Amino acid sequence: MSRTRQIVLDEFIIQKEKDFPYATGELSALLRDIGVAAKIVNREVNRAGLADILGQAGADNVQGEAQQKLDVLANNTFINSLKTSGECAGIASEEDEDIICIDVDGEKAKYVVAMDPLDGSSNIDVNVSIGTIFSIYRRLSEKCPCTHGDFLQKGREQVAAGYVIYGSSTMLVYTTGNGVNGFTLDPSIGEFYLSHPDIKIPSKGSIYSINQGGYTKFPKGVQAYLDYCQGLDGNNDKPYSLRYIGSMVADLHRNLIKGGIFIYPSTADAPKGKLRLLYECNPMAFIVEQAGGKATTGKVNILDLQPTELHERTPIFIGNKEMVEKAEAMLVQYGQAAV
Ligand code: AHG
Ligand code: MN
Ligand code: MN
Repeated sequence: MSRTRQIVLDEFIIQKEKDFPYATGELSALLRDIGVAAKIVNREVNRAGLADILGQAGADNVQGEAQQKLDVLANNTFINSLKTSGECAGIASEEDEDIICIDVDGEKAKYVVAMDPLDGSSNIDVNVSIGTIFSIYRRLSEKCPCTHGDFLQKGREQVAAGYVIYGSSTMLVYTTGNGVNGFTLDPSIGEFYLSHPDIKIPSKGSIYSINQGGYTKFPKGVQAYLDYCQGLDGNNDKPYSLRYIGSMVADLHRNLIKGGIFIYPSTADAPKGKLRLLYECNPMAFIVEQAGGKATTGKVNILDLQPTELHERTPIFIGNKEMVEKAEAMLVQYGQAAV
């Protein structure tokens, strides 16, 4: 019986290097280092349920340190990996107020990374899928230290973006602007295997994902779209299914595979919504666009927004084109201002 040889992540990254606009080994090295950090975080996520038990017993971990909270641990793991990669000039993380400039061979490092090291923190304690999101830009500054300007680039300028989902299996999904590929971790040997080549979001979807508990504070256009999704306005014979996990990575991963729309709108209390442009919306928009979908604020394409602050937020409607464009049309018809 003939067997097809499976492709592993590191091999795939090298194979695809020729497709990069600048054909650099540095970007490959950076992506590989992110893959290694993902495996370390995966190991900790799998042990997370034991952390309290070990903690109650007064135990320290093998390094003699007290068990850290998973989001701090994920942040430190990715920062350490990026710091030692030699290819990353700086990091913007959800967990750190300001950018972290890396001084190692700084002039040579061509890239900066924005990241959400642990997405879906509220799900950690209840054994529900969580993730990591990353976004890579070419640095603009010519020497160390890197500057805010290196990070405040439009999403269109991303050279790579991806996420890791720590779910029923752990996957790493990424794009370098030439399609989207997904890799599943075989935990027994610690390798990511290419399991989802050239992911395309289905052109039709029947899932909508939103924290619908906020309905009364959503813009009229969003309320109208949600009524449509449920068939309440008489115009949708086949009401959609509502699926909402509360981890953007997990909600979007499902919708990417099955087809659907994910919405985090502006609300009366939070006019810019909740999700962060640099390390949540931009990387996810890049991936979804590369998979044939669309991401918008309701007015403009997410990837065309000019960021002005590291931690700025934006409303987002993201998923397969047909559903996103229907939502956009209803925003125009009924209004975008939060009520
Ligand atoms: P984080 O854990 O990185 O702060 O992100 C949580 C985000 C996102 O993952 C999710 O889509 C959203 O918060 C859920 O918010 P609600 O609880 O308001 O639905
Ligand atoms: Mn997040
Ligand atoms: Mn987070």
